[in-house]
Amino acid sequence: MITVREIDPSGEPLFDEWYAVLRAGATAGREAAIVAGHQALAYSLRNPGPAKTRLPIAAFDGDRIVGAMLFEYRLEEDLDAIEVEIDVPPAERRRGIGTALWNWATTRASELGRTIFQTEIGAPTETAPGLVFATALGFSVENVEDHLVVPLPYDETRLRELRETAGDPDGYRLTSWAGPCPPEYLAEYADLRTAMDQDVPTGGMTHERAPWTVERLRTSEERLAKNYLALVTMAHTTVGAPAGYTLMWLPRDDAEHAQQDDTLVLRNHRGHNLGTHLKLANLDQLAKHRSTQAWLHTWTALTNTPMQKVNARFGFRPVERLYELELSLPLAEQS
Ligand SMILES: CC(C)(COP(=O)(O)OP(=O)(O)OC[C@H]1O[C@@H](n2cnc3c(N)ncnc32)[C@H](O)[C@@H]1OP(=O)(O)O)[C@@H](O)C(=O)NCCC(=O)NCCS
Repeated sequence: MITVREIDPSGEPLFDEWYAVLRAGATAGREAAIVAGHQALAYSLRNPGPAKTRLPIAAFDGDRIVGAMLFEYRLEEDLDAIEVEIDVPPAERRRGIGTALWNWATTRASELGRTIFQTEIGAPTETAPGLVFATALGFSVENVEDHLVVPLPYDETRLRELRETAGDPDGYRLTSWAGPCPPEYLAEYADLRTAMDQDVPTGGMTHERAPWTVERLRTSEERLAKNYLALVTMAHTTVGAPAGYTLMWLPRDDAEHAQQDDTLVLRNHRGHNLGTHLKLANLDQLAKHRSTQAWLHTWTALTNTPMQKVNARFGFRPVERLYELELSLPLAEQS
């Protein structure tokens, strides 16, 4: 019989077993799966922050863990939503383990009074088990992003060509940093992060994002700095007005993968090739800080034509797609 319960993230060796099951389920059949490292996830779950509750849930067959779920909900925004990730290793699939974890999720969501379920599924094809499973539960795909990669170290010849073609950023100056944002830029960086949340295409996903304040940003950066090195380049006009930024992550416990995350150019400053200039400057930072990482990953909505173009110019190739799915279940319909 399959039983489901929350586990204590500080309890070894159960947490290690849970993490191994999560990872095995999430990476099976995928060339380029990105899964939070053991150390990063353990830190996050063992030291709850103010922004999110994250619970490790396990499905047991006897005393063996056979399925893993991350059950999460935000505390400052998206107050009706639950995020779930359910992972079952291939050898344990099609015996109802995913469904058992899902039933736990709907029960807890109903206790919390939350009615919107969201999940992200990285999948090489539209027939991937995760998509079939979620669709069978009633989820619908609301946004699709390409998951793109480029090999590292970044090709020097391409970098030189891109630099030559781009020339100097006319009317703008660039500032780069590694780690937390320098105090003099914090307020501007918080505003840019808010603009990013508002502008990034998320299709039909329901989001009610709270603005980034300096305090929220500081807390988030301090937590993330334990396990990730942030590489940031920010653009200002020559008179000092912020115009955009780009952000990369080097996970400290992942020797293979680096992640290109946000890139934003504010509306008034678009059309000046700033996206390219920002990325070029941040690739210089990556060259300085990279250790053994062999791949740089990024995600771009299929509908985001400008960013798709920039990424193609930088040599990124698609490896799979990231599907964002959502399901609304009125409280009366939750078990
Ligand atoms: C998706 C996943 C969690 C399903 O786990 P599972 O334990 O096999 O799920 P269940 O046995 O409860 O399947 C429930 C139903 O989903 C559908 N389903 C699941 N996998 C399927 C597949 N490979 N092909 C067709 N239908 C499938 C079926 O309708 C199934 O019912 P059935 O077996 O009675 O036909 C597992 O395949 C997995 O870990 N995939 C990778 C991670 C992922 O994408 N997770 C996304 C969910 S958040």
